Amino acid sequence: MIVAVDGPAGTGKSSVAKNVAAAAGLLYLNSGGFYRAVTWAALDRGISVNDGGALLEVGRSLKLEITDGRLTVDGIPRQKELRSQNVDAAVARVSSFPRIRAVVNSHLRRIAGSMDIIAEGRDMTTVVFPDADVKIYLDASLDSRAHRRFAELCGEIPLETIRQQIAQRDEIDRTKTVGNLKLDPEALYIDSSHLTMDQVCDMVLRAILSHNHTTGETGQS
Ligand code: DC
Repeated sequence: MIVAVDGPAGTGKSSVAKNVAAAAGLLYLNSGGFYRAVTWAALDRGISVNDGGALLEVGRSLKLEITDGRLTVDGIPRQKELRSQNVDAAVARVSSFPRIRAVVNSHLRRIAGSMDIIAEGRDMTTVVFPDADVKIYLDASLDSRAHRRFAELCGEIPLETIRQQIAQRDEIDRTKTVGNLKLDPEALYIDSSHLTMDQVCDMVLRAILSHNHTTGETGQS
């Protein structure tokens, strides 16, 4: 079974997908992590994020796997490095190269293989897994996303700055030439602005159950 989840930054996709993965016995795939891995490795090797050819070589040379539920880069988990400020600042640029997207997509499809997975990102429902069994589009207003992020950061960064950063990321995500964020007509649209994490997870789990009920699947295909 493949559950695909898309949506803009700050809607809680990762937390929802992780919780649903645990509850439904699915492998959790965070596609943004793969773009972060290519970005981190390029920066680590002193490669410019504007050099598409060199980025492609990095993307092709990396061994990207999920081990014990965590993304490993050449065998090493790099969770902290992948979330660094430098990677944050450069990853949107790296993810805008169509050939890098093709490399990441083939990693995602290879790992998904014949496993039961929940994959989240920006183009899981539309490009990477267009035949997914369950498709979700998780949305929330700019205001509620900014407030959530502000609370997460315990007021470290002013609310208005966070709001502007999220608006900029939205713009980049929507206007990419390939793999841009859009609402797939087959996706269940969930606006989480006024919902709790548990309520959103319940809605996704119900969509999975309803799919399994219709197809007669047990959840472990
Ligand atoms: O979800 P995230 O912040 O970890 O994503 C990191 C970057 O990768 C962000 O700029 C959006 C981009 N991305 C993408 O272009 N396509 C995806 N499927 C997932 C993430």
